[in-house]
Formats: sequence, C-alpha cells, structure tokens
Amino acid sequence: MRRIRSALLAVTSSLALCAAPALAQSPAPAWPRAERPVRADDAKVEARVRSILSRMSLEQKVGQMIQGEIKAITPEEAGAYYLGSILNGGGSPPDGHAHASIDDWRSLADRFRAESLKGGGVPILWGTDAVHGHNNMFGAVLFPHNIALGAANDPGLTEQIGRAVAADVRSSGIDWAFAPTVAVADNPRWGRTYESFSEDPAIVRRLAEAMVRGLQGAPGAPDQFGADHVIATAKHFIGDGATRDGVDQGDAQVSEALLRDRYAAGYYGAIRADVQTVMASFSSWNGEKMHVQKHLLTDVLKDQMGFDGFVVSDWNAIGQAPGCSNFDCPAAINAGIDMIMAPSDWKAAYESLLTQAKSGAVPLSRIDDAVSRILRVKIRAGLFEEGPPSTRSGAPRTEAPGGAAERDLARQAVRESLVLLKNRGHVLPLSPTSHILVVGEAARSIPQQVGGWSLTWQGSETVNADFPGATSLLAGIEQAAKAAGGQAAFSADGRFEHRPDAAVVVFGEEPYAEGRGDVPDLAAPPQAEQALAIMKRLKAQGVPVVAVLLSGRPLYVSPELNAADAFVAAWLPGAEGEGVADMLFAGPRDFSGRLPFPWPDQPAPPKIVDGRPDHALFQIGYGLTLKGAEQGPDHVAEAPPSAARRADGRIRLYDRGALSPYRAYLGDDQDPAVAASSGESHTPSLSLVVTPADHRVQEDALKAVWRGDRPARLYLAAAEPQDLAAASAGGLSLVFEVRVEAPPAGPVRLGVDCTGACPSGLDLGPALSRAPRGGWVTIAAPLKGLLPSGPVRAPFVLAAQGPFSLEVSDVRLEAAPGGAEVLTR
Ligand code: BGC
Ligand code: BGC
Repeated sequence: MRRIRSALLAVTSSLALCAAPALAQSPAPAWPRAERPVRADDAKVEARVRSILSRMSLEQKVGQMIQGEIKAITPEEAGAYYLGSILNGGGSPPDGHAHASIDDWRSLADRFRAESLKGGGVPILWGTDAVHGHNNMFGAVLFPHNIALGAANDPGLTEQIGRAVAADVRSSGIDWAFAPTVAVADNPRWGRTYESFSEDPAIVRRLAEAMVRGLQGAPGAPDQFGADHVIATAKHFIGDGATRDGVDQGDAQVSEALLRDRYAAGYYGAIRADVQTVMASFSSWNGEKMHVQKHLLTDVLKDQMGFDGFVVSDWNAIGQAPGCSNFDCPAAINAGIDMIMAPSDWKAAYESLLTQAKSGAVPLSRIDDAVSRILRVKIRAGLFEEGPPSTRSGAPRTEAPGGAAERDLARQAVRESLVLLKNRGHVLPLSPTSHILVVGEAARSIPQQVGGWSLTWQGSETVNADFPGATSLLAGIEQAAKAAGGQAAFSADGRFEHRPDAAVVVFGEEPYAEGRGDVPDLAAPPQAEQALAIMKRLKAQGVPVVAVLLSGRPLYVSPELNAADAFVAAWLPGAEGEGVADMLFAGPRDFSGRLPFPWPDQPAPPKIVDGRPDHALFQIGYGLTLKGAEQGPDHVAEAPPSAARRADGRIRLYDRGALSPYRAYLGDDQDPAVAASSGESHTPSLSLVVTPADHRVQEDALKAVWRGDRPARLYLAAAEPQDLAAASAGGLSLVFEVRVEAPPAGPVRLGVDCTGACPSGLDLGPALSRAPRGGWVTIAAPLKGLLPSGPVRAPFVLAAQGPFSLEVSDVRLEAAPGGAEVLTR
C-alpha cells in the first residue's frame, strides 16, 4: 500500500525567496558626469533622429523597442513588426546549425536587413554575445576570458583583442556585441566571475575602456564604427558582481555611494570610450530588480552620468520584476529600459507595449525618448548607410575568421595572462630538450580550456572537433618539445614507462556559464582530487611537478600548491594552448600576469571589506617572474580536509543542469536512452519531449511533456553505478521541485533504476493533483525504501504516460526539507 503524507505549506513561492530587507537609504549621492568624447556631428545626428522619429507611426516606434531571438523569429516577421533588433543567444547559430558557415551568418543577416528596410524602414540591429571572440561562430578564434585579460592587465592588448573580435563579428554580418562585462566581481562563488576583468575597480575601468575602444574603434577616429567595428555593450548595469554570496541574479545589498564608487567603475571607463549601449542587470539592488530601478537607470545612468545611448534589458529579465511577465512590464520601460530582449515572446511584448503606449500606461514621451536613443545609436554606427551585410568592406574576408594573425594575438594574450604562483627550486622554465610527461585529461580538452560561452552557452556538449584550428595545452607542449628536440608524452593518470624529467599536471573546472556556475564555496573542483594524488605520487618518485590550473576563478588549492613544485594559474585561456607552452619552456619571455582577484587560503571566499579581502593567500597583484628571486611559499597552511570538500550533507544531481557524474536522459521502449541536450530533446516516437525551462533563474529546470501512447521516462543517470548506501543510511531523501502544467491522466511513478512504467516506483499522482496549479512543490521521498540493494545508475526516474506535463528542477539527496510533500510506501 502506498501512502502519501502531505506536510504543511507545500509551495515554495518564488516571491518569498526574493524578499530582502531594504537598506535604509541615506540621501542619494550625486554621481559624477561621465567623461564622454565630444562628437562633432552631434547636431546633425540629433536633427536626423528628430526627422526620422517624426515620420514614424506608433507601431513602428514600439517595434524598434523590441528584440527577438533568431530561433523564434523570421526575417519577414521582424520586418512586419518593425523590430528594432534581433539577437542570437549563447549557442544559437543560424538555423540552429552549430557548424554554420560564415556565409550562413551573412545571408541570414542580409535577409533580416532587407526585410527591415522595406517601405523605408529603420535598419535592424543584430546583437550577439561575442564575449571572448565571436564565440557562437564555428571556427572563430576564442580568446582568454576576461578574468585572464584582467591578469594580463594590458589595455593595448585588450584593445587589439576588441578590434579582432569586432572584425570577426562584423564579417559575419552582425553589428553589435553584448560585451564587455564590466562587473566588479566581489565573490568568486559567482558563476560569472570569469566574465569579470577583476575585483579591482581600477582594472575594470581601464580594461572596459580599452575593450570598448577596440570593439567600436577609438572615439572620433575616422574608423569608429567603421567596416571592422561593432557597437559595444557595457553590462550588466549595475552591481551584478556585488550580489550577496555571489549569487547569480541575486541581490546587491550595498549603499548607493558604494555603487557609485566601486561598481560603476567600468561604466565610467566604457562611456569614456563612447560605449553606445548598456545592458541592465538581472540582479536586484537592495531587494528591487534592477530592471525597474528608475533611479539608477534613468536618474543616474542617463541624467547624472550623461549616457545618451540606449539601455537593453537582459534575457527575459523583465519577467522577474513583480507584477511583470517576460512580455509585459511597463514598469521596466518607465524605469528606463529602451529595448526589451524578449527572445521568444517578442510578439507578445510588442503587443503589450503597443497597448500600454495607447493607454498611456507608458507615456508617449518615454516611447519617443527610447526610440530616439535607438535611432541615435543606429545613425552613429552608420547603419543607415550600410549595404547588405554580405557586401560590407569587412566582409570580403571569405576565410572563416581565425586567421594566423588573430591566433597569434590570442596566443600572446594567453602568455600575458598566466600567473605564476609558485616556482620552488626554479623548476620553471622547463628545458625544451627534456622529456616532459603531460598529465590529466584536461590537458587535451579544448572544451575545458575555452570554458563557457564557447559554441554553446554553457560550453558543455562540445568536443575538440568543434574547435577547428584550436590547440590544446598538450598539443602546444608537444609542438614546442618537438621543435626543440625534446619530447612530450601524455598520460591521463600520471603513470609512465620512461622516467620523465618533469611532469606538467593539468586540472581544473568543467565549463559553465551564468548561474549554473555558482558554487557554494571555493573548494577545489572534483578533478583536483585525482590531480593531487598524481602529484603526490610523482613527487614521491622524484619527478618535479608543474601544476597548471584551468579555472574561471581563484580556487582553494592549497594542498595542490603544496604538492607541486611550480604552479601556474592559467584561467580559461581559450583556444590557443601554445601560449601556455610558450611560458613553460625556456625562451626569451618571462611571466608578467598578476592576480586580478585575491587568492583564497580556505574554501570560504574572502569577504571584501572596504575594498580589501578579509583573508587571502595571495593578494591582488601577486605573481612571480622567472628571473626574480622570489619562488613563492614552499608550504602553505591547509584547511582541514573536511572543509576542503564541498560538504553540506547534500548530494546534488541536478542543480541548474545535471551535475557530474549524472546526465539527463529520456527513454521509452523504442530508445531507452536519449541524452537530453541544451535545446529540445525527444524520444523517437515523441512520447516524451523535454526542453529547458525557468524556475528561479533561466534554464535551471526541465520541462517534460509526455505526449505519446506509450510510457516514457525522464531520468538522471551516471555512466558508472554509484554507491548511495551511505546517503540512505544517513536518512537522506530524494528531493526535487516540480510544477505541474497539465495534470496526469494515469500514474506518474518516481523510482530508482527502473524501466518501462517503473512499477516498483512510488506514485506521485496524488501529490501532484493536490499541488496548486502553476505553483512549485517540493517533493521528498526517503531513499530508504526507494533504493534497491547495491550501487545504482539512475537515482531519479520519472515514468508516466501522456498526456501530462510538468517542470522539474533541483534534484538532490538531502534530509527532507520542511514543507515538502513526503512520499512513502
Ligand atoms: C546574459 C547576458 C547575455 C544575454 C544574451 C543573458 O542571459 O545575462 O549577458 O548578453 O543573455 O545572450
Ligand atoms: C543566455 C542565452 C542562452 C539562453 C539559453 C540565456 O541566459 O544568455 O544566450 O542562449 O540563456 O536559452
């Protein structure tokens, strides 16, 4: 007999989660006006803005303020609705074809432009996340992520990179890059830490300015916005890196004075370089979503700082403001958002804004101001004068981007960004004629070295072959050794036949982006465990060890530092792995990279107090050279091992994405295991269709629609069976959150390792039918009674038969939380 015990208050309201105490505000401080380049053509541009605006219908104006995503809009639709802009999101190439050619990009751009111009329309603007290269385009050169550029701290280099990226973006028919991120990131737990140049506002300011100059061209120069340049974006306004505990899209609980004096640094730099657009932040400031903060978006950014370009909202971010949805948020427009990024809901966004403009809920003066700003930027950027994207002067680059000069630049950036943390006994530089053992799968994983925002949004689901022309760290070391008459051998686990002169052990973080990269602390990532054991073994064998860490943030790696003779923080170096070899082997060069963030001496992240970390192993600015006498610490204190591991009594299976070693699958009797992809996935018979969905942040949930006439399963499974006996003995439950969309007609079973209709599982039906429609419920099923004996491969299986649909997120093993619906047999 199955019995279901329901507990109190089952629904977790997302509203309750966002409630945060508002800080008592002292009177708003004045913000200095941003230094903005003087433009000789201002008066002409303004006259033209007014003249175009005066000829536009309300429908055309509203259309300018909407941006749709290329997956969800055709050129004809964009034209018919007068859309001001389109974007392609992370991992969204033309026709969804990951290996789309440059001609595919250009011809899509041609079509969008041609449709927008019909009937004398305003040219459409296409934006893309070119955040470390034209990273959604197959074959483009991938530069080191911003954190690495912060380590290099070389404005000239940053500007050159901006220029190269702009040329690539432009050559593919696109005019606008959603870059640079100018966050001052306080807490490296944040999954976007690597998009930030530094925790030091001065570095952020300087490099933001350099990157914008590179992307757009120097203010006032004849080629500003010329054939090889694009419009840049300073993002995400403001305080994205200041959120409490480094939570992505979280709440920045800081004073306005601190916003101004610390977190605004990059905007001052970017505006000085004439940045034309600003993207609002998903995050909140003192409990209120930035997208509806009129004071900051309008009074501060536009009026006091003097920014005269336009403000674009972030991906469905308006929907997070109270009383708003992804397509309806007059409060955001009234607060100062000029263009709404409404990826798939662009049509509804257009319609609701039109209605609000007609009813006066959004004043016409606000619409006119927003459209004037958009027109101003389009005029300045020369969009009206352009020919079809495929005929632009930058476009005859018929070769896919990724030419030798650009690769050399990326390689130089790698060299400049590496930070040498330790070099005992001057183990580095290695002799190129020696025998080097290169250890760890990370050494030959391009996906790992390029990180998130690389062909896919998360940087996952790619293989080396997706990055033609890229060089792994291993390949770089092999080439260098070979050229000098030495040799390099690879070993995944550090075992060798021929005793090497030295070993290079590479390990680090797996790719992630945005909130999926948030971590509970700075403990070393799972790969470090094996690397540490290997390094200890090599050391015991008398082999000198050089550790190379690939990471999007500083991490607590004191045991690994102690086990290695030399230690290099390589960040996420991008596609040109030779840059690492350049620095490991003796040659004319020396390390010059310096830490852009303090380096932690314990898994707990340092707290920034008055701009200084309260504890750190190495301060910002630390970094050794080969020539210097300083060799770094021989031994550093280690945190107790229990603290070094991520232990909070929970085992996460799915947290904004399936977590290693688990993956999400779909299965039915025709195909038992279809791996869920980042887009839509389905069983061959369409008995089950799964797409990403939003719960707390975007794409942290899976939406499953059971449609067919046969049972189908959504499940999480690991390649190797996992021993969960201890979790069961410890009283943990299988816990997850669900929201029912269409109630089930038949049983819905929750099971472990079950197949078919999962007859051995617990029936979720009654709990689901009690759940309030549209609300999230937390469900807990004690492992005891659910687990078969022995290790399991699939600790979470939902089996049902359509029609039925739900969303599920946050699957974990933990003590049943209060308020959960507890399922027992
Ligand atoms: C990110 C932005 C990005 C946008 C478009 C959002 O999720 O926060 O940085 O520009 O998506 O891809
Ligand atoms: C990213 C987009 C991405 C999307 C996933 C957004 O947050 O910024 O670029 O494609 O989520 O659908």
